[in-house]
Amino acid sequence: PFPTSIPVPFTARFDSQIISNLIDLSHTKVSQSETQDTDLPPHYPNSWIPVLESRNIRVNEMKTLTVFGQELVAYRSQSGRVSVLDAYCPHLGANIGVGGMAVKECGEECIRCPFHGWTFRVTDGLCVKIPQLNIVIKSKLLYTECEIPTARIKVWQTIELNKTIFVWYHSDSSSPHWDPIEIQEIERNVWRYEGRTEHIINCHFQEIPENGADGQHIQELHTPAVMSGNVLNKSTFYDLLCKVLKHEWESKWWPSATSPHISQMSLNVKNKLFGYTLLEIEFTIRQIGAAFVVLQYKTVDFGGISGAFIQSITPLAPNRNRIVHQIYSEATLWGKLLAKFLLYGE
Ligand code: FES
Ligand SMILES: [Fe+2]
Repeated sequence: PFPTSIPVPFTARFDSQIISNLIDLSHTKVSQSETQDTDLPPHYPNSWIPVLESRNIRVNEMKTLTVFGQELVAYRSQSGRVSVLDAYCPHLGANIGVGGMAVKECGEECIRCPFHGWTFRVTDGLCVKIPQLNIVIKSKLLYTECEIPTARIKVWQTIELNKTIFVWYHSDSSSPHWDPIEIQEIERNVWRYEGRTEHIINCHFQEIPENGADGQHIQELHTPAVMSGNVLNKSTFYDLLCKVLKHEWESKWWPSATSPHISQMSLNVKNKLFGYTLLEIEFTIRQIGAAFVVLQYKTVDFGGISGAFIQSITPLAPNRNRIVHQIYSEATLWGKLLAKFLLYGE
């Protein structure tokens, strides 16, 4: 069925069988079952999962991400929109995040693979151009100008909210049935970003939200002042510290009555020196989905200084998670000082 004027190599490559027999990249993924002890729940939760902080990807920048045991590539287009795609090209498996380029094709934003130039539309991952076949595509002999059937790269559903880029993960590829919640003070720049901490935690993902809901351990483990860390080998110095400088915690946890993916906690913490309260803070905490927690705080005194910790948990691989705390605070000197103090404690 091919026009005889097409050079032989192009004819061979245009065989629809070849195009649809795209390279099998399943070996590049760390599958849930491969690494899973049968007694454990799945390693990655079905949830919106924060994968990147907004400030870490500029316009026209491309970044590779290793999350859920897979390589993905994030790209912020000229319009400011972030797209997240599988990193490996469905042609011969090049990592598009390494040398890939943002291009416009057929008037649409696309990503071009650095290996042979196959070009994928960022909205749905469809391959809209194979440079070696350009003449055929443009002459519309076989396919419409902008569509090469079956060649497609996976585009992950993505939301950018609260200065965070979320990707929807679902083990059965189901669509999202809820959306992340907007924190207006962050989204509208009422609160200022005051810093972050990042840790890698080697445990099953589920341990982290379960620990967050475990109010009982707080009084036991986090009693001394935040500056001392979580001292497990209690020493004379620790005992002395506990007498002088102390945290008192009161917490209550309850699931949201209307949104099954949200749970809430109220937490009151009193920082005491020789038994006198120096600083009392009320936290209102919301766990939104499996991987995102907003801890809004307000001091009881000092005119009610307010701000929030944002906790983002990203499963990187089975039993390996990145946990990032970012702090946002009201734009006052006292707000800034309190934020730095809380971040230091964190
Ligand atoms: S590997 Fe050939 S175009 Fe991507
Ligand atoms: Fe804790």
